[in-house]
Parts: sequence; C-alpha cells; structure tokens
Amino acid sequence: MLRNSYKHVMERKISTKAAVLVFTVGFGAVYLSFFEPFVGIKPTFLQINLRKQKNDTTPANRSATNTHLWKCERDNSVTNISGFNSLPGHLKDFLHYQSCRHFPMLLDLPDKCGGPEGSADVFLLLVIKTLPVNYDRREVLRNTWAKERLQNGVWIRRIFISGTMDSGYEKKKLNRLLKMEQHKYNDILQWDFHDSFFNLTLKQILFLEWMETNCPHVRFLLNGDDDVFANTDNMVVYLQSLPGNNGSKHLFAGDVIYNPGPIRNPHSKYYIPVQVYKSNRYPAYCGGGGFLLSGYSASVIYKMSHSIPLLPIDDVYIAMCLEKAGLHPKPHLGIKTAGLRIPDRKADPYDPCFYRDMLLVHRFLSVNMYVMWQSLHQPHINCSLTTKM
Ligand SMILES: *[C@@H]1O[C@H](CO)[C@@H](O)[C@H](O)[C@H]1NC(C)=O
Ligand SMILES: *[C@@H]1O[C@H](CO)[C@@H](O)[C@H](O)[C@H]1NC(C)=O
Ligand SMILES: *[C@@H]1O[C@H](CO)[C@@H](O)[C@H](O)[C@H]1NC(C)=O
Ligand SMILES: *[C@@H]1O[C@H](CO)[C@@H](O)[C@H](O)[C@H]1NC(C)=O
Ligand SMILES: *[C@@H]1O[C@H](CO)[C@@H](O)[C@H](O)[C@H]1NC(C)=O
Ligand SMILES: *[C@@H]1O[C@H](CO)[C@@H](O)[C@H](O)[C@H]1NC(C)=O
Repeated sequence: MLRNSYKHVMERKISTKAAVLVFTVGFGAVYLSFFEPFVGIKPTFLQINLRKQKNDTTPANRSATNTHLWKCERDNSVTNISGFNSLPGHLKDFLHYQSCRHFPMLLDLPDKCGGPEGSADVFLLLVIKTLPVNYDRREVLRNTWAKERLQNGVWIRRIFISGTMDSGYEKKKLNRLLKMEQHKYNDILQWDFHDSFFNLTLKQILFLEWMETNCPHVRFLLNGDDDVFANTDNMVVYLQSLPGNNGSKHLFAGDVIYNPGPIRNPHSKYYIPVQVYKSNRYPAYCGGGGFLLSGYSASVIYKMSHSIPLLPIDDVYIAMCLEKAGLHPKPHLGIKTAGLRIPDRKADPYDPCFYRDMLLVHRFLSVNMYVMWQSLHQPHINCSLTTKM
C-alpha cells in the first residue's frame, strides 16, 4: 500500500504461534564454533506487541527540503505497558521513540555511488558507524584500510554514518566539524537523531533506506565500527572468489554467535526486558563490529525491517530481518569481532603476520591501525610459521 503521510500509523499485532524453542543459554554462555551447523528455526518466534508500527514500503523522499515531514512524535501510550515505570531511563526512552524511523538528513552523499545506475560499479562499499566526536578515528581510516581506491580492478568506496551528539553549543560544534570533513572528503551521512548505543538499529535502518535509493546496485558492503582493523585488500580477494555471486545473491558473513538470547540482567549494557522482547531466544547473528554482506542481502534486510519493530541491539535486529526472509549468517574465520587470540603469549600482538590473512579484527585504535596498515604493505613481510594464524 502506498502511503504519503508519515503521521499515519497503524495498530498491529503479531500473533504468536511461537514454537518456543528454548535453545537459549544467554549471552554469557554463547560459544563460538565456526563449524556449528545452523539452527534451522522458522521465524515464528516473534512475540513482540507491535505498537503503532509504520507500514513504510515506499522509499522515502529524502531530499533535504522535505525533512519537516519526518518530525517524529513521542509515543506516550507506551507508559501503559505493564512494568513500564520500573524500566531504566534509556529503555523508557527507547520505547517512547521505537516507532520513529524517519529523521531529517543533515549531511547527504547523493553522488557517492555515481547515482543509482552507476552504483553497480561500486564493488565494495565500506559503511562505517561513527560518532561525531570520533574525528581521529575517521582520519586514520581514511588513510589506511578505508581509502577509496581501485583495488584488484574494482572500486572501494567509503561512507561514515552518524547521528548527532550532545545538545546546544556542543552539538552545533560537532555538527560543524562533520560539515567541514564533508567538504573535504565527501564521505559522511548524518541524520538528526541522538546517536546512542540504543539507537544503532535506527542508524542502520536509516542507512539501508538511503542505500535503496542512492546505491541500490552496490555489489558488496562491509558494515562495521570505526574501531576495527579491516584488511580490505583481503576482503576484495575473498569477495571476488565467491562462486556465482556477484552481489546479486545472498551473502552475510562474519563472526557468528550461535544460540544467543536476550540478557535479562538490568545492570547489563545489553539489558532487554520482556517489555521490549518477549522471546528467550535471538536468531544466530554476526557480531556488529564488522560483517560482509551482498547488496542483495542488504536490500532484503531493509524490506524485512518494515514489518519488524526496532530492537535496540542492532546486530541482533539485522539477524531477525534475515531470519524472516529465511536467510542465515555464515561464519568467516577471518572475521574476529571479539578480538584476536594470539596463540603465543610472548609474541607481539601487533605482529603483522597475525593479520595478513585476516579480514577484520576488533579492536584497533589509531596508532596501531596506522602502523599495521603500513607494515602489511611492506614489499617483504617476513613471517615464520609460528605467526601464521
Ligand atoms: C503494508 O504493506 C504491504 C506491502 O505493500 C501490504 O501488502 C499491506 O497490505 C500493508 N498493510 C497495511 C495494513 O497497510
Ligand atoms: C522529493 O521532494 C522534492 C522537494 O519537495 C521534490 O522536488 C521531488 O520531486 C520529490 N521527489 C520524489 C521522487 O517524490
Ligand atoms: C492507557 O490505557 C487506558 C486504558 O486502556 C486508556 O484510557 C488511556 O488512554 C491509555 N493512555 C495512553 C496514553 O494511551
Ligand atoms: C534516539 O534518537 C531519538 C531522536 O533523537 C531520541 O529522541 C531518543 O531519545 C534516542 N533514543 C535513545 C535510546 O537514545
Ligand atoms: C550477476 O549475476 C547474475 C546471475 O547470478 C546475472 O544475472 C547478472 O547479470 C550479473 N550481473 C552483472 C552486472 O554481471
Ligand atoms: C626472514 O627471517 C629469518 C629469521 O629471522 C631470516 O633467516 C631470513 O633471512 C629472513 N628472510 C627474509 C627474506 O628477509
């Protein structure tokens, strides 16, 4: 159904024919086995009350002049949810704005992919979650793994995605910084929402929506944080070697976490109360520090997101979208979002030999990032067998 007004909202509930498959061992007991067979659970587990879920099936007109249409209203009816008053502030806040999916764009990149048609020439689009204040991280990435370039005959492009931070003068100052960077590098998408941990899903969906209009035919994407080391040279080689997949088929590869479930401990950063998510299981998901996906899968995730209420844990939310489409994440041994375990304790953890075969490692900050990237591009790195991962 085509709709013009974002104010129009609908009431809807998902019936819960939930096959209650309690595989859940909780976040803490998650184990990472790369050869674990996938758990083929059908996506009937959703037990969330969909309050005021919007039915946006048309791509928004995100022209900056139209932004007044998208003003999001605080949903006060959520205070009726049982136990609402005892929830921590950030969760109350999340529930108040759970159905808002449209925010004004502050910085746009309409020509990043050479227009919708030209976007097929972008082989790997690097989509990097950042905060306005992380200027130094962006600067290092621009000079290392996220350089826009022709690699192995194909194009790599870079986009940072951001919301806003702070308020008043500080907010203005940081927005001005991003604007200056945009002027110089043309690599930032920014929307006017408060960029917090619990708004990461929103940021993700805003990006996918933007992509649908501006870069729909991009072949592959790396979706990741601004504190990971990504060996984008290796990524290109890996993606070019996929049999029969030029981006038009499913790919979703990363560090897969199997049999996870929501954390019910109110003191955890990841706390999700039953008021937000009833089921005791999450689908297997790829750690959000970084994962690779095809343009096809990105588009599927976006389409599925229309009918799934936002869950504040972004990587889990994406897995819910995939599951709804009957698709699964795939483990890749070279993606280590929980960090790299170096076998030899005496070894230098930043020996480039540990990283030359990797695709992505969390967590890396400026000095090591820069040195590592340079080291890996020395003409002869001399690696003994012990440092081969
Ligand atoms: C929501 O959108 C879908 C896809 O266009 C349509 O089939 C469905 O009828 C819509 N539902 C409502 C309630 O508008
Ligand atoms: C988007 O909005 C702008 C400004 O209102 C308008 O000129 C343009 O025609 C719209 N585009 C679409 C595809 O609706
Ligand atoms: C809360 O629920 C009551 C009773 O169902 C209803 O009368 C009231 O309007 C609701 N409040 C809001 C803010 O939706
Ligand atoms: C998400 O962003 C909206 C818009 O800025 C804000 O009102 C809301 O408080 C944010 N939510 C969280 C959980 O930070
Ligand atoms: C990508 O592969 C599909 C078949 O899997 C093919 O139909 C399509 O033409 C290919 N696209 C390009 C641009 O090579
Ligand atoms: C590599 O290192 C080993 C041991 O340090 C050394 O014997 C060898 O000559 C080095 N090879 C190169 C090509 O530098």
